[in-house]
Amino acid sequence: MSIEVSKIVQAVEPSATLAASAKAKELVAAGHTVYNLSVGEPDFKTPQHIIDAAVAAMNAGHTHYTPATGIIELKQAVVSDYRNRFGLDYKPTQCVISNGAKHSLHNAFFSTLNPGDEAILPAPCWVSYAELIRLTGAVPKIVSTTEADGFKLTADALRAAITPRTRMLLLCNPSNPTGSCYSRAELEALADVVIEKDLFVIADEIYERLIYGDTKFSSFPTVRQGLQDRTIVVSGVSKTYAMTGWRIGWLLAPENIAKKVGSLQSQETSNPCSVSQYAALAGVSGDQTCVEMMKAEFAKRRDYVSQRIADIPGLSAPRMDGAFYAFMNISNFLGRKYNGVQVDTDKEWCLELLQQKKVATVFGSAFFCEGYARASFAASMETLERAFDRIAEFVR
Ligand SMILES: Cc1ncc(COP(=O)(O)O)c(C=O)c1O
Repeated sequence: MSIEVSKIVQAVEPSATLAASAKAKELVAAGHTVYNLSVGEPDFKTPQHIIDAAVAAMNAGHTHYTPATGIIELKQAVVSDYRNRFGLDYKPTQCVISNGAKHSLHNAFFSTLNPGDEAILPAPCWVSYAELIRLTGAVPKIVSTTEADGFKLTADALRAAITPRTRMLLLCNPSNPTGSCYSRAELEALADVVIEKDLFVIADEIYERLIYGDTKFSSFPTVRQGLQDRTIVVSGVSKTYAMTGWRIGWLLAPENIAKKVGSLQSQETSNPCSVSQYAALAGVSGDQTCVEMMKAEFAKRRDYVSQRIADIPGLSAPRMDGAFYAFMNISNFLGRKYNGVQVDTDKEWCLELLQQKKVATVFGSAFFCEGYARASFAASMETLERAFDRIAEFVR
């Protein structure tokens, strides 16, 4: 008998963003210079005091199992950070530390959704949500938003998408891939529908520290009384502290949910890496100057990228209020030939841009939004300059 892949895993699509990065790396390995704007990670080195804390943790013998849901010091640091910055009161027992925010999302979906439940996903949205939701047997319901609405879900669109099977709304704020950020008033309008229709929310706020200009971020559970009881907040250290490889994320949830997430995690993975937890602790509870420095650099690049996009006739992108992505509208550039190659879809456009100009981006349809390409500005100024020179040449 040969081994067959299970039906449920057969249906899982690989991550398009990781696939784009892998393709770019292949070209690099073959000797090409590639301008890689496909990545979803800060290009900065993890701050030195965080690395030092990891080394100290290893030398102090923190190289063994920890409690499955994470060390108490890190949970305390996370909950006091939410108390200080948002006035949210969580107990450490409501916090589960996991192997990255992606793992926290998986835990949250798996612990709350039943087969047949519907989960509303405002699109464009990050590639992993739909796949992770499907793994639970629940149904991701993609609700498209428009560029005219800043790619934000409106209360009316939410209301229209709700059926008797709807249980959850996923809100990614600030958004990957669009960089949009909901105002408090917009969140309040959504919260009113959530409360009226008795839904719960998974709020992916992993980019909340990367906000630019006069944009103000509001954490979802703060916008209406009682929302903490119907929200799971997901975040982590990957983007804020340039710690993508350390794999530490968390969720904050009502106590009964956090408890069962803890049981699930204790069976699936045990604790996240002990050394990484001490490193994350140094990040969350240490000097935040490093965050401000990285953010200032991202803000400069965001201004530069906005200008370069504006300078290319026919190309546009919505204003980037947060995160580090430009979601470029390339619809004017489809349905034509590039060096003799017919390009009709955003996927083909991104592929030809990579093949012909060695610039890696991610096609919009990977985020359920055809006609766009996501360019990350978590790349050096030099890479951005060269990449946009080449994008300009490509579409000319
Ligand atoms: C919106 C969003 N949520 C979650 C994650 C996962 O983060 P982590 O590296 O902590 O698993 C990412 C990473 O790209 C992301 O863009």
